Amino acid sequence: MSIDVAEIRKKFPILERKVGDKPLVYLDNTATSQTPSEVVDTITSLYEHTKANVHRGVHTLSQEATDLQEATRRRVKDYINADSIEEVIFTRGTTEAINLVASSFGDRFKDGDEIILTVMEHHANIVPWQLLQRHKDIKIRVVDINEKGELDLDQYRSYFNERTVLATFTHISNVLGTVNPVKDMVRIAHEHCVPALIDGAQASPHLKIDVKDLDCDFYVFSSHKMYGPTGVGILYGRKSLLESMPPYQGGGEMIKHVSFNGTTFADLPFKFEAGTPDFIDIAAFSKALDFIETTGLDNIRCHEEKLLDYTTAKLLEIPGVKIYGEAHDKAAVISFNVGDVHNYDIGFLLDKFGVAVRTGHHCAQPLMERLGVPGTVRASFAVYNTFEEADIFISSLRKVASMFQ
Ligand code: ALA
Repeated sequence: MSIDVAEIRKKFPILERKVGDKPLVYLDNTATSQTPSEVVDTITSLYEHTKANVHRGVHTLSQEATDLQEATRRRVKDYINADSIEEVIFTRGTTEAINLVASSFGDRFKDGDEIILTVMEHHANIVPWQLLQRHKDIKIRVVDINEKGELDLDQYRSYFNERTVLATFTHISNVLGTVNPVKDMVRIAHEHCVPALIDGAQASPHLKIDVKDLDCDFYVFSSHKMYGPTGVGILYGRKSLLESMPPYQGGGEMIKHVSFNGTTFADLPFKFEAGTPDFIDIAAFSKALDFIETTGLDNIRCHEEKLLDYTTAKLLEIPGVKIYGEAHDKAAVISFNVGDVHNYDIGFLLDKFGVAVRTGHHCAQPLMERLGVPGTVRASFAVYNTFEEADIFISSLRKVASMFQ
């Protein structure tokens, strides 16, 4: 089935705006995707009619707000094929979800323990583990990539030993676009009785997430990259693990009983949700999931792949362009440089043509070091992008590149 991109674009008024006197060409979807009207309208309507704190009142508004938040939890559970709502924890984003696991699951790590991650991780899946190293003498083992930007699975396999306590890796690289064989990676970890965490921030907008099929122990992702509101993340955790983990933060709603003689904690999922959650954005996130399901993930991926192939071929025709990431299985993310022109200059000048791309290290400095570059320019696609936009990007880049010749 094909999709009607023109119809889809009508749901995204921001795509009509101009940057200077040029139409916006938004190619920074890997950083955050845009949000359709039904999500924005839901947020507005909830603020206008249903704002009340959740799980804290017998009054009608509070009950309604609670019902909406918990309906979203059920929706997410079904969407990712989790076993129960107790396995779905709301966080502020992927970053907070990983910090939660590092702090709470990491509590059991002992000096000398080892965790495995990869050189293509976002800082959000590096720094929380380094913070843990301030208190525990744990070793971080880093899996390398080949020249195409694919993980060295032999090295990954060879890193497991009796001290390994966790394998944690991204599903899709936010720089290279590489789609990692995460199901195999989880299986390998489990063969060594090691749990696995998947950073799904970049995969969730493009791929079906089925935590049962993946058999992962933790899967983390963010709403704002999935056409949803900012400030909402999801931590999926296997129930038996979550039950065995201490709370991450203390405060309201995560307790059963508080006294100065000691406090007992709420059951899952609330044990990990201290304080007032972003219940309005959580409720609106279900509309973003509706949008994805109505459009169809297969359709989204198919359209994005066509844009990826089309744009990659055109980009390579421009003298001096070098693309980073040529994995066999690749998402619609293109990182590149043009000769020795600084990535920032390219991005700054593309913006004058209305083209929004990301520049810099993309919160992946170890990967930049591995690639031997200070940064790249990155163009990334979503379902609402068009081939006309790809053409504007390419022709603008040609003009920008010619300025440096
Ligand atoms: N993680 C986001 C990116 O790659 C912010 O741009």
